[in-house]
Amino acid sequence: MKILGIESSCDETAAAVVEGGRTVLSNVVASSVEEQALYGGVVPEIASRRHIESISQVVQKALADAHLTMDGVDAVAVTYAPGLIGAVLVGVNFAKGLSFAANKPLVPVHHLRGHVASLYLTHPELRPPFLCLVASGGHCHFVRVDGYTTFTVLGRTVDDAAGEAFDKVARTLGLGYPGGPAVSKAAETGDPTAYRLPTPHVEGRYNVSFSGLKTAVLNVANTAEMKGEALDVPSLAAAFQHKVAEILAEKLALAAADTGAKTVCLAGGVAANTLLRQKVQQKVDTLGARLALPKLIYCGDNAAMIAAQGYYELQAGHTAGAGLNGYASLPMEQGYPPPTP
Ligand code: KG4
Ligand code: ZN
Repeated sequence: MKILGIESSCDETAAAVVEGGRTVLSNVVASSVEEQALYGGVVPEIASRRHIESISQVVQKALADAHLTMDGVDAVAVTYAPGLIGAVLVGVNFAKGLSFAANKPLVPVHHLRGHVASLYLTHPELRPPFLCLVASGGHCHFVRVDGYTTFTVLGRTVDDAAGEAFDKVARTLGLGYPGGPAVSKAAETGDPTAYRLPTPHVEGRYNVSFSGLKTAVLNVANTAEMKGEALDVPSLAAAFQHKVAEILAEKLALAAADTGAKTVCLAGGVAANTLLRQKVQQKVDTLGARLALPKLIYCGDNAAMIAAQGYYELQAGHTAGAGLNGYASLPMEQGYPPPTP
């Protein structure tokens, strides 16, 4: 069964065709990140406008790369939540039109469920249950994946998402956007022990907090400026990255130990972070569990992961009618349709 996936929840306009939830036949991503970088972050209206300009071409290329027309596609899966609402609606509306015109089922996919499904693209043998940290620019969830369409969120950030913290710290240090890769690059030549950053205290056994850490970095930068001292940017970036990776790896290991998880996974943009991967690997080895990581191309936003999750949503009978709407925020445990507020 071949699913066409469409993703437009942030600054990537993406379309892909995936067979059987596992085999990627095409994967096309057009990003407005370079333009967004000029503003130091995603400007929602610019994201929406770039989506509406490029979505037709992106979808056509995904079909062409897979050597298919809509006749050969079994369903259209689309990210309907969460995300920048103007951006989400571009993909939802396009998918609706396409499914109507081609008379194919329309499958709504939660973006974070999509990030989890990125693991199926990399590990064809991976089956739930497993434990997954989904860490992106907007979310940071410790999730027990009970089944393909059933999830239990054990813990989350109580303030900033991990990716958001990287982005804000990068801005403070003048490293540009997106912050994750920029901070990692700067940290390569830094000494992570040169600055001591606090470990935030947070309520909830599997919750994390990054707001205080971000403020601590800002305070170090401001103090250096006030005193007229040179700031060691690579070392501050390295200290911050170490702290974030340590916090995430420790909480993930705690959740894995408590739940007896045999397989532990990372997903989302932050899962591309090399240090986080290393730290989690060490912890998971100590627990005697197995670590499964997504390929780097499937960490950031893409539509192959939406098509993969769409396959499992379709198997579970989760389709939408012409009344499908988009949602800026929605718990990932919530199936479609969400209750009316
Ligand atoms: O999943 P994603 O592409 O989009 C959202 O759903 O938000 O994640 C983007 C986030 C950004 O905050 C970016 O700075 C972060 O992932 N990121 C990283 C790395 N690459 C991207 N964070 C840490 N290290 C990286 N190598
Ligand atoms: Zn994402």
